[in-house]
Amino acid sequence: MTNIALSGACGKMGRVIAALAEGRKDCIISAGIDVRGEKYANFKIYKKFFDTEETPDVIIDFSHPSTLPDLLTFCKMRNVPAVIATTGYSEEEILQIKAAAEQIPVFFTFNMSLGINLLADLARRAARVLGDRFDVEIVEKHHNYKKDAPSGTAIMLAEALNEERNNALKYVYDRHSVRKSREADELGIHSIRGGTIVGEHEIIFAGHDETISLCHTAQSKEVFAAGALNAALFIVSGVRAMERGTLSEQRNEDGSERIAEMELIRLAVPKRVYTLSQIKYTADRIAWLYKNRELIGGLEFTEEPKVLRFFFGRLKAAGNWPELLVEQFRKDFGGSL
Ligand SMILES: NC(=O)c1ccc[n+]([C@@H]2O[C@H](COP(=O)([O-])OP(=O)(O)OC[C@H]3O[C@@H](n4cnc5c(N)ncnc54)[C@H](O)[C@@H]3O)[C@@H](O)[C@H]2O)c1
Repeated sequence: MTNIALSGACGKMGRVIAALAEGRKDCIISAGIDVRGEKYANFKIYKKFFDTEETPDVIIDFSHPSTLPDLLTFCKMRNVPAVIATTGYSEEEILQIKAAAEQIPVFFTFNMSLGINLLADLARRAARVLGDRFDVEIVEKHHNYKKDAPSGTAIMLAEALNEERNNALKYVYDRHSVRKSREADELGIHSIRGGTIVGEHEIIFAGHDETISLCHTAQSKEVFAAGALNAALFIVSGVRAMERGTLSEQRNEDGSERIAEMELIRLAVPKRVYTLSQIKYTADRIAWLYKNRELIGGLEFTEEPKVLRFFFGRLKAAGNWPELLVEQFRKDFGGSL
């Protein structure tokens, strides 16, 4: 059972997620965080992140960009993975999210629906085939209470298209202020706001005498809520700390130290969930440690166990290897750990 804390719990998406989670057996909303603080279900709602008593397995955030500093600090301090679905972030805030993802697992997308992510993939393929012979425009439609425009999803689709065109496209948001014909390197993005439209995105590829259009319509907020819950379960079930016994059984027959390295990962990064970059960081440091192993006189076995386990066997008495190692570390990596 995965314990989820819901940031923006009193908002429209927060309530849909809470209702959807009630019908599931694999997760539970253990707490909510929202400045409004209105209790409406059987979990506590805290007004601020740092009032939260329990540490959840994962946080789902559908709130507001102003929440970001507290959200990231909370997740980093308590080592909690985050599913971030809020939109309207500045470029700088997106960089902050990416920087946090170096320390904690982060699942960040402007659109949690499976269909939109498939749409982005189809759009990439279309852009690859059609190249610069077709003009591309994106039209997005949302309800009349949406504050940001264009939608985060429209930007996500534009970025996917632009990557396929070697980032040569310029985004154009309105044409009323300039009187000139369309340039080939423009990517028009248009926002329509009205009524209760949940979310519609259309990508138009307009060529000579033919037009292709790819579109997606979300009929309810549940598609985003279901996507967010699935993302939360995915991220906590990601790469986990591994059991020492299991690793030892995987020891290579030629006696190579792959298993020992894995043991060290477990000891060096005592966290339940790792990001790939954390693993790479640790693996790089361990590879370095292995390269400099002759400095570590103290870790030579005098009695090596058959199955290598870190705390088993007898180790040679330690010399001044910690100092030698620190000296070498500083030479190779500078002062930073
Ligand atoms: N990625 C996706 O798939 C997806 C889908 C739908 C909505 N969204 C985004 O999710 C966000 C929320 O959408 P909504 O429709 O639920 O909005 P909403 O305005 O109904 O809810 C936002 C909630 O966040 C709370 N909040 C705002 N600032 C806060 C703060 N500093 N600390 C704590 N709580 C705070 C508000 O009190 C409110 O209850 C928006 O940015 C929206 O664009 C993303």
